[in-house]
Amino acid sequence: MKLTRRDFCRLGAGVAAATALMPYHFALAEDGFLEIRAQKTEKSLAPDAPTSTLWGYNGLVPGPEIRVKQGERVKVRFINELDEASSVHWHGIRIDNAMDGVSGLTQDAVEPGASFDYDFVAPDAGTYWYHAHNRSWNQVGRGLYGPLIIEEPYPTFDAEHDITLVLDDWRLNQNGQFDEASMGMMMDWSHGGRLGNWLTVNGESLPEMTLKAGEAYRLRLINVSNARTLELDPNRFDAKVLAFDGQPLPQPIAMPYAPYLLSSAQRVDLLVVPKEGQDFALEEISGQAPFPFLKFRVMGKAAGTPDIPILKPNPLAEPDLAAATTHRLHITGGAMGQMGPMTYKGKPLGQQEMMQSKQFWALNGVANLPEQQFFTAKRGETVIIEMINDTAWPHAMHVHGHHFRIDEREGSTIDEGRPWKDTFLIGAGQTSKISLVADNPGKWLLHCHMLEHAAAGMTTWFEVA
Ligand code: C2O
Ligand code: CU
Repeated sequence: MKLTRRDFCRLGAGVAAATALMPYHFALAEDGFLEIRAQKTEKSLAPDAPTSTLWGYNGLVPGPEIRVKQGERVKVRFINELDEASSVHWHGIRIDNAMDGVSGLTQDAVEPGASFDYDFVAPDAGTYWYHAHNRSWNQVGRGLYGPLIIEEPYPTFDAEHDITLVLDDWRLNQNGQFDEASMGMMMDWSHGGRLGNWLTVNGESLPEMTLKAGEAYRLRLINVSNARTLELDPNRFDAKVLAFDGQPLPQPIAMPYAPYLLSSAQRVDLLVVPKEGQDFALEEISGQAPFPFLKFRVMGKAAGTPDIPILKPNPLAEPDLAAATTHRLHITGGAMGQMGPMTYKGKPLGQQEMMQSKQFWALNGVANLPEQQFFTAKRGETVIIEMINDTAWPHAMHVHGHHFRIDEREGSTIDEGRPWKDTFLIGAGQTSKISLVADNPGKWLLHCHMLEHAAAGMTTWFEVA
């Protein structure tokens, strides 16, 4: 028997009472560093299911929520209590390169028993997250991630009205436990990545939350799945989009289409004002029937119209398209696609080596982190990256250290305007142009955030001099 999400629904007797805010679970070292320890932990992932052995920060999946105010310093001591080297990446933060946490590019992986101090300033308010960045397909897949919330320095939504929702897609076996046996499966690496059969919200199954009618809430959705693109339709409960990938829109907008695709690593902040007596749910709508994975009970009576906080733009430099340099990134490989010639570790990659090394994808013909950077930009230069997805799969392309604007999809502008993002979905066979100001010096990764794809070749880097 293969477990499907719907089978699991039927098992679901225990409805977890989720609390909106995750409590702080930190030890504070004498020097003011928050400690996060990567540890093995036991946790049940589905109603009535036995526990699974996962990896979590401070024993929690998701890891503890880190909150600071915009412009403040984040000081975190990472302590590795696992048997595998690791590092911590601060996803979406325009960070000092030395703090970016990419094992093998910006730092050496932190060995078992060792620690590393991260100390940086978060320049942008918004919804971010942190996660392991060594063998991420394995480490994030087992639970090494947590939310990182950078608060606006001015009053917006208070704690009661500001709700973090960490969404993860798990592959569970017949016992309802983490399916360890299928980790690293060739099939996942060459196809759509590791897709699961069960969704958790803040580590809980099918939680319910209570909201008050007529009040304005910010829901911060973070998709931490290895590969699952969540299909949502926020218009079903009249939600508006406040921000994508941490960056607020000039004003809240209704999603111009459905389904809205939230790829792995993407965030969306939704504004919702619950209506009296109208309970609603967040639903994943890719299946035959919508799957409500988070139910909201609406309490009380609405009194007047609520004040909706205005989010100010973050200090991002605007790309100067007229003076830009264009670089093309050709994505090839994967099942059912053109393989084309590929090199790996400086050598041509034949069919047999491909299977042995599990390198199935290439960026500009090179599988995995090349010796040679994709491009070097002068500091402050506008760069246009034209991506050509010559594969049969969508990809969630992520740029480290910068946010970019999506200028074009298939030659035309996109419906949401030109939002800032740090991760964007490029459809099978599609072409897109993004632009950014290369204003953050260092060596930066650019990769597919479907973590099996990244491990199987879809990783490159660029340099800002
Ligand atoms: Cu969210 Cu290279 O990472
Ligand atoms: Cu991909």
